[in-house]
Amino acid sequence: MLILGIDTSFDDTAAAVVRDTIILSNVLSTELGVHQEFGGVVPRLAREAHQNQIDAVIDQAMKRAHVSWDEIEAIAVTRGPGLAITLEVGITKAKELSILHNKPIIPVNHMEGHLLSFLAKGKKKSPNSNPVANGQILKNNASLSSHFPLIGILISGGHTQFVYAKEIGEYEIVGETQDDAMGECFDKVGRMLGLGYPAGRLVEDLAKEGMTGKVVFPIPMRQVKSADTSYSGLKTAALRIVETMQEQNNATLSRQQIADVALGFQTAAITHLLEKLDFALDRVGASKEVRALALGGGVVCNGTVRKRMRSFAKVHHLPLFVPYSKKLFTDNAAMIALVAQWKNSSDLDGLDRLPTWSLERES
Ligand code: KG4
Ligand code: ZN
Repeated sequence: MLILGIDTSFDDTAAAVVRDTIILSNVLSTELGVHQEFGGVVPRLAREAHQNQIDAVIDQAMKRAHVSWDEIEAIAVTRGPGLAITLEVGITKAKELSILHNKPIIPVNHMEGHLLSFLAKGKKKSPNSNPVANGQILKNNASLSSHFPLIGILISGGHTQFVYAKEIGEYEIVGETQDDAMGECFDKVGRMLGLGYPAGRLVEDLAKEGMTGKVVFPIPMRQVKSADTSYSGLKTAALRIVETMQEQNNATLSRQQIADVALGFQTAAITHLLEKLDFALDRVGASKEVRALALGGGVVCNGTVRKRMRSFAKVHHLPLFVPYSKKLFTDNAAMIALVAQWKNSSDLDGLDRLPTWSLERES
């Protein structure tokens, strides 16, 4: 099915055209400039930016895919979770286009998009355009059912979730953050280190210059027998460590000191995630079948996260599915059009934003 996807759930205006599971175009207009000076996303400014950019982004997505409105079979739009006033921009635009071009609308859960991104394929039949499991390319004809049941590890700026996916559309959240999301914590610690916003990639880059073991962070929730994560303690620990270093230094930290903190933090953040994933796997695996692990969300951009996740999967003898392109890790609309391939359309009147839509609920 040829579907136009739209996502305005947070700070990027995104549109994409997808045929079945093949991405024909994936356009993103990032609003970073708008939010950088505030050190975070300002909802009202995000909505204005979406309103200004959405027509051009959709236009680009259609042009790059070389498709006409006649050919488009449906419009997929993110209904939630996300910021209420930005979700509204995408939904309103989808409704307008649906009436204008007489196309059905398919509402999609943004987190289901991150979860199923690994199923997307590129236009060219390059080896990279198929899901990769532990470095092995899955054959094009590998049937969908061979991927499930799996545990999805969703790590972004807004969410940290372990999701048991029995099959497409049947989900159970087996663990999630009790406070900050993993990406959010990278952003907050990065800000403390004076790295700007968003700081995930900058923390990762600096961590490469850090000395192993120089700064050691406590691993959160080790005593708690649960698959839930907690990242706010790492943020507090970072603040304490930075303040102590500043006192000893009598002011600012050196680049090496910042790098040592970045490495210590990143190591603890990933160790915490893996310890809780281990717990989730044990708990789910005791009563249910798990055939694979799948990664999704912006924090997957982190090379150390992917590396340690691959080792984890190997130890547990499970294939690890990772989306084929970095553009599919972070927010995008291709994942929304992809998920819509397996969903039903909605009537326009009943379609409204769902800012806290959980993967466990139908709607
Ligand atoms: O999925 P995403 O684009 O948006 C949300 O839905 O939140 O994820 C953005 C998050 C930000 O918090 C950003 O700092 C984080 O992903 N991120 C990273 C890296 N690249 C992006 N975190 C750690 N290491 C990275 N290389
Ligand atoms: Zn997201």
